[in-house]
Amino acid sequence: MEIDILPWVSMALRWLHLIAGIAWIGSSFYFIWLDNSLRPEADEKQSGVTGGLWAVHGGGFYHKKKYTIAPDHLPDTLHWFKWEAYVTWLSGIGLLVLLYYWQADLYLIDPSKIAFGQWSATGFGLGILAAGWIFYDGTCRLFSKTNSLVSGGLWFAFLVLGAFVLTRVFTDRGAFIHVGAMIGTAMAANVFLIIIPNQKKVVASMLNGEPPKAELLRMAKQRSVHNNYMTLPVLLIMVSSHYPNITGHPLNWLLLALLSLSGIIIRHFFNLRHKDKVLYPILLVGIGLFVLTMIFASFSDKKPKPAFNTVSFNEVQEIIQRNCTACHSANPTHSIFRSAPMGLALDSREDIEKYADGIYQRAVISKTMPMGKDHNMSDEDRQKLGVWIENLRNGS
Ligand code: HEC
Repeated sequence: MEIDILPWVSMALRWLHLIAGIAWIGSSFYFIWLDNSLRPEADEKQSGVTGGLWAVHGGGFYHKKKYTIAPDHLPDTLHWFKWEAYVTWLSGIGLLVLLYYWQADLYLIDPSKIAFGQWSATGFGLGILAAGWIFYDGTCRLFSKTNSLVSGGLWFAFLVLGAFVLTRVFTDRGAFIHVGAMIGTAMAANVFLIIIPNQKKVVASMLNGEPPKAELLRMAKQRSVHNNYMTLPVLLIMVSSHYPNITGHPLNWLLLALLSLSGIIIRHFFNLRHKDKVLYPILLVGIGLFVLTMIFASFSDKKPKPAFNTVSFNEVQEIIQRNCTACHSANPTHSIFRSAPMGLALDSREDIEKYADGIYQRAVISKTMPMGKDHNMSDEDRQKLGVWIENLRNGS
């Protein structure tokens, strides 16, 4: 018996990443909702309470209160929320290393852009993550007195620039995942370096009988609001590898920016709604932007007209054997794959016809296949596959 350990480790990390991520994003959504839903409570004006709310869930009633700065005395038990953030980040970095750095030749390096070696690609990737945090944190500090929108807007612009640069440096998927990792790193660092330490300082000063500094809590709140708006773009990026219509588009960086913006606007609609401001035009702008992006993406992806009308199956089979079956075969010869990736074997005519739509999507339209830095599939070969599949669909 032989254990193919890599897919198991990758699956375990991804599972953990999802579980922790759901817990983290769930608590982010919950606390932003909680904060926005607080209403003044008549009898508590004097005791430093900003507001409270009642809720019913899971067979019981809850009564929450928020103190403007802090209560007079610390309670015996205080719940903190941090491990879900740390575990999400650690498992995410684990996946990044396992898939994109360890197997950089397959997932990260695109020699038609920059012919990195494994170490230089890894160094560039990690450098970009650090640069992202330095820029974001610096901007938040510089504009700490202004509205969170200024620092948030500058960060968004930086990320769009980052996406543009990365899509010129790494494979499209590798570029997307690094934008996601930049956002995720800023979110986790917000918790680790700002929110939790500031809250700890407030608790410490209370234990010393000193008045807590409101500025520390205000700073933590700003980061927490930013994190809330970052969740939707980061989730989009995490599922983007399933959508080569976005990652493989020639203007993929712009599509990512527009779709992220639509997510942020939709999030904003919900955040306002919690404050009883139900502004449907905002929701419509968010959804409208999504639809316009879809239309724009479809019109801006023109492919050149091929110089031939028919292609024989023998030619197609030869192209597939040259470019695909090292991996996509019942018996792959590629060193990393012991079975056909995604169960997609392209050995027989039957298989090739059955998976024609997928082949069209990945090898003709988005050019996200073949993967790996060693392939040299020509545009003419892609066009040939395209013509053959279009004829197959038209029944000719
Ligand atoms: C170096 C190995 C390798 C080569 C060569 C390769 N692929 Fe893939 N392919 C993969 C892996 C790994 C996946 C799964 C990850 C992904 O979807 O990106 C995949 C996924 C796919 C999918 C998506 C399947 C699904 O169910 O979502 C299609 C379609 C595909 N490949 C077609 C092709 C075609 C056509 C070629 C040749 C032109 C090709 N591949 C060459 C490794 C390879």
